[in-house]
Amino acid sequence: MARNIIKLIVVLILFTNCDGLVIAQDSNDTISIIPIPASMEIRDGYFTLDSDTCIIANNSLQCYKELLRQYCRAELKDTKDTTKSNKIVFELDESLKHLGQEGYILDINTNAITINAYDHKGIFYGIQSLRQLLPTDVFSSSASENIPLKIPCAIITDKPQLQWRGLMIDCSRTFWSTEFLKRYIDLLALHKMNTLHLHLTDDQGWRLEIKSHPELTEKCATFAKKYNEPPERQGFYSQTEMKELIKYAAMRNVTIIPEIEMPGHSSEVFVAYPQLSCSGQRSEIFPFFKGPNITDQIFCAGNDATFEFLEDVLSEVADLFPSEFIHIGGDEAPKTAWKSCAKCQGIIKELDLKNEHELQSYFIKRIEKFLNSKGKRLIGWDEILEGGLAENATVMSWRGINGGIAAATSGHDAVMSPTSHCYFDYSYNSISTEKAYSYQPIPAQLTSAQQKHILGLQANFWSHIDRTEVAFDRQIFPRLCALAEVGWSPKETRNWQNFSQRLKPHLKRLEYLGVNYHHEISKGTVIGMWHPADMSETYKTLELDITEYLKQSGKYHVTFQYSQGLHRLGIKSVALLIDGKEISRDNHRGETGASHKDNIYKFEIDKQHNDVKYSIKAEIRSEGGCDSTGNIYLIHE
Ligand code: ACM
Ligand code: ZN
Repeated sequence: MARNIIKLIVVLILFTNCDGLVIAQDSNDTISIIPIPASMEIRDGYFTLDSDTCIIANNSLQCYKELLRQYCRAELKDTKDTTKSNKIVFELDESLKHLGQEGYILDINTNAITINAYDHKGIFYGIQSLRQLLPTDVFSSSASENIPLKIPCAIITDKPQLQWRGLMIDCSRTFWSTEFLKRYIDLLALHKMNTLHLHLTDDQGWRLEIKSHPELTEKCATFAKKYNEPPERQGFYSQTEMKELIKYAAMRNVTIIPEIEMPGHSSEVFVAYPQLSCSGQRSEIFPFFKGPNITDQIFCAGNDATFEFLEDVLSEVADLFPSEFIHIGGDEAPKTAWKSCAKCQGIIKELDLKNEHELQSYFIKRIEKFLNSKGKRLIGWDEILEGGLAENATVMSWRGINGGIAAATSGHDAVMSPTSHCYFDYSYNSISTEKAYSYQPIPAQLTSAQQKHILGLQANFWSHIDRTEVAFDRQIFPRLCALAEVGWSPKETRNWQNFSQRLKPHLKRLEYLGVNYHHEISKGTVIGMWHPADMSETYKTLELDITEYLKQSGKYHVTFQYSQGLHRLGIKSVALLIDGKEISRDNHRGETGASHKDNIYKFEIDKQHNDVKYSIKAEIRSEGGCDSTGNIYLIHE
């Protein structure tokens, strides 16, 4: 009975937006689905997945059977015997059209698990929710024998709020391997995100094979030798590799949107084709920070050869990518060269354009016509509004939300990715996970008809600063978990306290998946710092007075969080002292740098006294070079 009451409370919490949802299963797991479903009712009992559990699905859903086997690491025999109990059933159901293509019903009772959906995409998302109801250690690659797995009985009816739930990865400033991108496709799928926007071309390199213009990858995908860039940060995707990636993504309901930048951020092209720029000068590909952040080099808008080149490229891109949209960039196009180019000025005159903004608009409109003729829709950064938006264009709003509002009010679609909440290359100091979670992608000032033009949201990751896979993970997670919930879950079910409780076990899943997520200090107090000047490469003792922060008994931990520098901090031990006398010591090696390892040091005080001095003594050193800085936090658990 008591348990039923608890379960009822769970349902109420989900529907009434109370906070603090943490439901312990019989094991030590917590029911935590991110993004939180639109409706979920936890019921009595468990389904036990064991060596006899069978799976039933029609032919079109075969690939999902295989995925579930991989997720559970269980055999799950095929059967067609619908009378059998102990089964998992995937079923397409025409009557669920109201849930849309991505919606599903997941019904778990003691005898069977059923996922019903109108479309195979819904079946896939039902599997993702089921996956998050499995015991957490199923996510661990070292857990060899999982079964039997206990799965709590529940009924979930779910569908997304927004159709575009994306992540942009800048593959130009840093080339990311297809293996790495596949890992991110899996992580997007786990969070029910469905769009991977690849920024494939920019000043720092052209990353996609174009068969009609092999020079683009022969000459424009690597830096000059003098820059000594690591080889793994440069390169390109062959069309064969990209096809395989697209297929891998499609099976996980992720659409890859290619971005080919124009008319600015294109100087890499002029390494091979200088005649396509206004100046005609051959450029060189330089790593970010080793040249101007934005160059004046730009495609000449008055040269037909520019459009012939871009149409050749876009024809291949349109054939390769099945996505409805092709992104053409359009941001931060410097107009200086156009101002002094006779050909560009000639077009302005001939077409009676007012200025270079209208010239940019002419450029984008011409490209849009071509893309539309190929059956594709054009999307671009919000600068494409300047000088007049192309007839059918969709706007990706990044300089705040006004671009999205302007698009929607004029009947155009928009995707929201403002720097204020969605730029995950920014530090956690400027966009905390809580801030990302607070994002409301639908501007309140829009009418309900205009709101329908907001297709969704997107996180962006520009790869000019954090260029290693470890640093990439840290920038993305856990903020992506937060934004995924904003994009998927109804506003009424979203609540930060509730989310942060569910995030705890979810982070354990991410840890098992090898994600080097950022450890956020939520309620910690900064009790000290370390600076390059105080450090050495041999261990030094740092003593910090914490008397003023220790106002109650209980469990505490001290953690070290690197904020900048090339080399990490190594920690050997942390001791608690009362009036200078050591009371306890946590003796283990930890480190903090671009990634953290075991950097939490625990102690406990049974009774707090007001008339003593509490301090901690830490043994720390710089590892490899004394250049890092960071904070030391005290957290009452
Ligand atoms: C952008 O961040 N330049 C779109
Ligand atoms: Zn020109």
